[in-house]
Amino acid sequence: MKQETVRYRLARRVRSLPAETVSRLLGMPRISRRLNEAYETARASYRPRLPKLPALDMEIVAGLEKNGVHITSLDELRLPGTQALWTSATEIANTYSLRASAGEFAGEYTVRVGADDLMRHPHIVGWPLQDRILDIVETYLGLPSAYGTLNFLYTLADGRQVAARRWHRDLEDRRMVKVVVYLHEVDMDAGPLEILHCSFPGSDALDGSNFPILTQEMLEQRLGTTLNSGDVTTCTGKAGTVIFTDVARRYHRGRPAIARDRCALFYNFFSRAPLRPFFCERHVFSPGQIRELAADQSARARDCMLWRSNVPLLARLVPSARL
Ligand SMILES: [Fe+2]
Repeated sequence: MKQETVRYRLARRVRSLPAETVSRLLGMPRISRRLNEAYETARASYRPRLPKLPALDMEIVAGLEKNGVHITSLDELRLPGTQALWTSATEIANTYSLRASAGEFAGEYTVRVGADDLMRHPHIVGWPLQDRILDIVETYLGLPSAYGTLNFLYTLADGRQVAARRWHRDLEDRRMVKVVVYLHEVDMDAGPLEILHCSFPGSDALDGSNFPILTQEMLEQRLGTTLNSGDVTTCTGKAGTVIFTDVARRYHRGRPAIARDRCALFYNFFSRAPLRPFFCERHVFSPGQIRELAADQSARARDCMLWRSNVPLLARLVPSARL
């Protein structure tokens, strides 16, 4: 993602207008109340069908409920397919690191690994589509889950507070689970994910079609004080750290990296009938590639990947606001 030109920003704004307009409508009190009632009814009726989780996985759900985040590791999770994931993902990460050193990404702040690279490694995309992860996600969401695929991000250590490095909330749904895998050690200076634990005036209300997006300085201005260490979980960790976090209910950001570039996998989950489906397809794949990736999966995983066919027709008519 390059520093955007005015023309590019304008074109993106025009493309996003229908989605933003509907997002505003959904925020209107009467509409929002009706939708919330239907959502709570759906959660209540799905409750008896929720899976029974092993102890570690219950801890992850408890962490999400209590703090909006739980930090674990690939070693602790011991999931099938982890070695293949690690080999391929670190190989791609090393390639991007070499390209960055050669100056190929000058002027960009974050580079997304492209669809062509990922289509050659479908096991990276499909890794979290296993019963244990889906059970964790569904228990936390309280509803059948949808898989919004992943963003495989290479973030340059330029210290800039731009895009997802500003404090924000994701908009796609009421509850979401992002599963983040660090591909190398991430310390304070290498862009760790940060989750905010305090609220502030306006943190629960849409400002137009989105929640306010804030720099560190703007956030502290709203809080009326500087952030204390207990107000934020800074997710530093070794290579292979796995973070489960709800990016919809919690303000969060990627702390701007200043010393070392960061490479990580961001897997996205939301409910199968998300509140704002038109914000959900912020990934690199075409619809045809999604169908291709889903074809080899189990029936449960396929339903998660092809969630869009479950969305009511009216909502499907709103064009997706892509990144
Ligand atoms: Fe986010």
